[in-house]
Amino acid sequence: MSETQFTPRVFSGIQPSGGLHLGNYLGAIKRFVDMQDQGDFQTVYCMVDLHAITAKLLDPATLRHNTRELAAGFIAAGVNPEKSILINQSQVPEHAQLAWIFNCVARMGWMGRMTQWKDKAGKNAEAASLGLFAYPALMAADILIYHATHVPVGEDQKQHLELTRDIAAKFNHDYGVDFFPLTEPVIEGAATRVMSLRDGSKKMSKSDPSDASRINMTDDADTIAKKIRKAKTDPDALPSEVEGLKDRPEARNLVNIYAGLNEQTVAQVLADVGGQQFGTFKPALAELAVAKLAPISTRMSELMADQAEIDRTLAKGAQQAREITAPILKKTYEIVGMVS
Ligand code: TYM
Repeated sequence: MSETQFTPRVFSGIQPSGGLHLGNYLGAIKRFVDMQDQGDFQTVYCMVDLHAITAKLLDPATLRHNTRELAAGFIAAGVNPEKSILINQSQVPEHAQLAWIFNCVARMGWMGRMTQWKDKAGKNAEAASLGLFAYPALMAADILIYHATHVPVGEDQKQHLELTRDIAAKFNHDYGVDFFPLTEPVIEGAATRVMSLRDGSKKMSKSDPSDASRINMTDDADTIAKKIRKAKTDPDALPSEVEGLKDRPEARNLVNIYAGLNEQTVAQVLADVGGQQFGTFKPALAELAVAKLAPISTRMSELMADQAEIDRTLAKGAQQAREITAPILKKTYEIVGMVS
């Protein structure tokens, strides 16, 4: 275990690949805001545009639009650039520079075991980009270039965060230093894995071909309400106890979403709604979702009307970030033996 005391610092990132959805909000952004407002940490949040081109190269104008829209989403949801450092990954070159070192620390075998690599590369791994394979080393660099101690994410990122710890431990061991922290994943709350509204066994995802499967952060009030009304359920009433949701993935998902939006535990929600039919519960959930999400979507559009202001915020964030990342990269290079 590490003996060094690291500054309590949070880092997390989201890909600007378009289509921010309720899973990103409850699993990540809402919790970024909570950690920012707790005041126990310095917080750094990032649009990971270098990651966004690993699966496929995007049209440049689309990538630029997505990055600004994601920045607007962060701010609209409560990430405050006066309290948190908000950055675009490619504007802080130390991320990619440290990633190269980590490419040389991480082993091919570790990367090949990543489930995201296997899912995304599919059967035709030969045709996948080298960047997709190395994706987790860049992610480790995102985190460790800040010596971040805590990383809030949804459940699907757990394996990547374990790999980040492996990379930090191997670097520290190989060079006989105690330089990189073993970062703690923070996977907490009722909605760390929001599922599709059409199929409770599938994660809510921007890549699902059915738009009805997810609530987009840009959906208006009517669309949000309609998608919840049409969400797949089973014919039974809601249980009063958490155990009653076992083997009822769609019911569990809607209760998790309610709990996440209303900042309650699942047990607290069930204590109130146990015994209700979906005909009663769904309108209540729709009302809650609209109340929480519609103002974010409205604010996002307002922010997107002034893109120059978004760009200024990101330029300022990059400057603040580099005050942290430049010394850490310099020290890393010294440890590795780069002549400076
Ligand atoms: P990405 O862009 O796929 O997702 C961003 C965040 O949203 C969470 N998330 C979900 N949470 C709950 N339910 C869902 N259905 C759901 N879908 C997505 C993800 O867990 C994530 O927290 N590899 C990362 C981006 C990244 C990163 C980092 C994260 C790059 N560098 C450093 C943390 C630290 C990714 O692809 O997230």
